[in-house]
Amino acid sequence: MAKGNGLSGSGVLRDKGIGIFDSGVGGLTVLREIKKMLPHEDIFYLGDTARVPYGNRSKNTIIKYSMQNTHFLTEMGIKMLVVACNTSSSVALNALRNRFPGLPIIGVIEPGSEQANGATKSGRVGVIGTRATIGSGSYRSALHRFDRGIKVFQQACPLFVPVVEESMHRTRFAHDIARHYLQSLKKHNIDTLILGCTHYPLLSPVIQRVVGNKVKLINSGQAVALKTREYLSKLDLLKTQGKGNIHFFVTDTPLQFKKIGRLLLSHDIDNSIHKVVLEDYE
Ligand code: DGL
Repeated sequence: MAKGNGLSGSGVLRDKGIGIFDSGVGGLTVLREIKKMLPHEDIFYLGDTARVPYGNRSKNTIIKYSMQNTHFLTEMGIKMLVVACNTSSSVALNALRNRFPGLPIIGVIEPGSEQANGATKSGRVGVIGTRATIGSGSYRSALHRFDRGIKVFQQACPLFVPVVEESMHRTRFAHDIARHYLQSLKKHNIDTLILGCTHYPLLSPVIQRVVGNKVKLINSGQAVALKTREYLSKLDLLKTQGKGNIHFFVTDTPLQFKKIGRLLLSHDIDNSIHKVVLEDYE
């Protein structure tokens, strides 16, 4: 198995694609924003649908999976990697940067925190995410890098991911779960809430209803897309012409991926999904 960083192959670096991975389908919320902002770029999206969710797993397992995902994507010949998964971004980003030193890598925590820092007036910011993301304290640390004075209130919401994966995000059930999780955050008078998980933008209407209209919801997808463009532009790797193609890779049967993919991207993605096996990657 080749172990290169994918940056040394033939051809012009600028013509290579952007790699994006997530534990499953949720990262399509990030892909959607990147595609809008960078329509000329080819994108290789890997959803590790066989091993989702990452959010309840140990740090070592999340790092191992993230390494395998990145290794696979580098073999596609990518010029940059976006870690769309909040859980991987929280736990594995440094390990990935050490292992793939020639590859520009961005995660979702820093751009989302920057956006929240710009949005909050009261300095009282809520963060919701998986257990691993909340347990890592990654958003708190990132917010404090922008402003030490920000008060951060966190809440893990482990049931949100399965609710979205089961397409139940518009139901009464989703609303009840949201009330259960967000009650305590409401009491802290936050004015900004970071949706610290790829799946949560789909729950935005429900979450907004529960926390009230005065609370600004932060979906880091847009901020990540902006950062991606900034990065590529700085490295002189931005593609400015041609129609970019998207290639989807999944590690389990693509049925649910297709369904939610259609919902998120507003078109069928059936023909461009490939099933892959990652176990042999390191
Ligand atoms: N993609 C994950 C994240 O953003 C959520 C799903 C999971 O637990 O794997 O944290």
